[in-house]
Amino acid sequence: MDIKTYLRDQAALVEVAMARFMPPPDGPLADHIESMRYSLFAGGKRIRPILCLTTARALNEADDTQKALLPTACALEYIHTYSLIHDDLPAMDNDSLRRGQPTNHVRFGEAQAILAGDGLLTDAFALVTRTQKPALPLAATLAIIQEIANAAGSFGMVGGQALDIANERRHISLELLQTIHRYKTGALIRCAVRCGAIGAGASAAQLAALDAYGRHIGLGFQIVDDLLDSTSTSEQLGKSAGSDAKHGKATYPALFGIEETRRLAQEAIDEAIASLEIFDDKADSLRDIARYIFNRGK
Ligand code: IPE
Ligand code: IPE
Ligand code: MG
Ligand code: MG
Ligand code: MG
Repeated sequence: MDIKTYLRDQAALVEVAMARFMPPPDGPLADHIESMRYSLFAGGKRIRPILCLTTARALNEADDTQKALLPTACALEYIHTYSLIHDDLPAMDNDSLRRGQPTNHVRFGEAQAILAGDGLLTDAFALVTRTQKPALPLAATLAIIQEIANAAGSFGMVGGQALDIANERRHISLELLQTIHRYKTGALIRCAVRCGAIGAGASAAQLAALDAYGRHIGLGFQIVDDLLDSTSTSEQLGKSAGSDAKHGKATYPALFGIEETRRLAQEAIDEAIASLEIFDDKADSLRDIARYIFNRGK
């Protein structure tokens, strides 16, 4: 199966699961639920849940493992969607287009957008601990909660966003730029891979290899996001192109130019694939996803 078909099928599976987990927009909270659903079901590549499920499948093909991991996979998408809603707020990147639609605050107002983000973040943890059959072993669930909290929190995505904002219109070192990218975007992507590995009962050696894969694609993903921001149109992206330059963001193209940025992205992807050396062809989908991350938008 080619990678585009694979990603489309997996995204559809995630979509169905999220539709099952998200409450309908009824009752006194209808407007709040509607605002969360608006951003969650606006499309999106669903790459984090797909990475979680694909990593697990590389280690363990049991259907029950996939089913048991679905709440975790969807929780990662909730948290990612919350990060996008808040990232777009006037006080942050002040963007008006996301996933091909007006941003959440444009549609529902700032207060409701902040609360939609808060709701998705918090509900994500309720989802991971949801009682269902089949379920992950309790120890794996606990480890996953810890992984997600760390990756999403102050020493993960939130910390990265704080650094991103603090370093607007400043000339910074490659080291700091890499730190920002690893935190704001890399952490949650790496976490998605780690959660899949933990859910599938990875050995220490397997977890270490997958962790390295997750780190490299996580950095590569944001380098390519920077590239696309400066080389694509808003129509192609479904979000406001040129937003980084407008805000004087610290990005790879700003620091290195387009050609060198492409080379550095390719390097991160090559390193990700090299990290999977201990795995046989069961990890081919992970290799393909790494290549897709580099080639997306082309
Ligand atoms: C965009 O993420 C924001 C970053 C962290 C770079 P995605 O490119 O995964 O956005 P969606 O989910 O497909 O909309
Ligand atoms: C966002 O980085 C990282 C997040 C944690 C949301 P960007 O600000 O570059 O993401 P986009 O380009 O708006 O999607
Ligand atoms: Mg941002
Ligand atoms: Mg942004
Ligand atoms: Mg961007």
